[in-house]
Amino acid sequence: MRKRTFQRLLVATATLAVATGCKPLDDTMVAIFGRSMRDQRSFDPYENPRPEPEHSIAFSAGNFTKDRFSVNLGESDGTRPDEPFLTPADMAPPGSETVRSLRNPVPADSVSLARGKVLYDRVCVVCHGPAGIGAQAYIAAKHPTVAAYNLAGPQVQAYADGYIASMIRMGRGLMPSYQHEFTYYDRWNIVNYVRELERQYNEANGQGGSQSGGANGQAAGGA
Ligand code: HEC
Repeated sequence: MRKRTFQRLLVATATLAVATGCKPLDDTMVAIFGRSMRDQRSFDPYENPRPEPEHSIAFSAGNFTKDRFSVNLGESDGTRPDEPFLTPADMAPPGSETVRSLRNPVPADSVSLARGKVLYDRVCVVCHGPAGIGAQAYIAAKHPTVAAYNLAGPQVQAYADGYIASMIRMGRGLMPSYQHEFTYYDRWNIVNYVRELERQYNEANGQGGSQSGGANGQAAGGA
């Protein structure tokens, strides 16, 4: 008996709700709080509600900028042959054929290295250390169980530029993906700076010349 009544009440409430929508509820909220969920401003994922401040890093999926010095929102990842769609499978060392054949479009000039250093020191330094030596990184002190990942040492020196640039895009395991944080050109600026750290590493360890990262980078396209 009681169960029946409850069921009827439930059906009646549901019918009322369907017939009238949530408007009465909303109106009550407006009466109490002065606004309702109906009036809220909503954003799309990654939508930036404000214009980009000058010289900032474009925080957007559309990051294939017009040229290497602009920060406008451009085409999104995966829409161009030089920015192909990648999956985690592409990131198995030393990177898939696609990853390895990516060409570094940015010459490692002083402008590129300066920009690369700013971004590296802002983002990568925490885990990879200021000189690209993992053991000197902040997390190495905080979390000794996390393996130190050297970017300046021989292992990464042997990788193609495209592997490092794609690693920044895709991440792997504990390494986060920075696909949306950096523009296409800024990724290559960071790659150039990592190569510079490798050069300094070799210099400090008495191996000049032949192993230099820059040369590896230029050769990567042909492989
Ligand atoms: C939160 C910590 C963290 C940050 C920040 C970080 N990395 Fe990493 N990175 C890692 C870890 C952990 C690995 C090893 C991942 C693995 O082997 O699966 C790694 C691996 C790499 C590798 C591949 C090394 C190899 O031998 O295969 C490259 C290249 C790399 N990172 C570059 C960068 C760059 C460039 C930045 C800055 C844009 C960066 N990382 C920021 C944690 C980080």
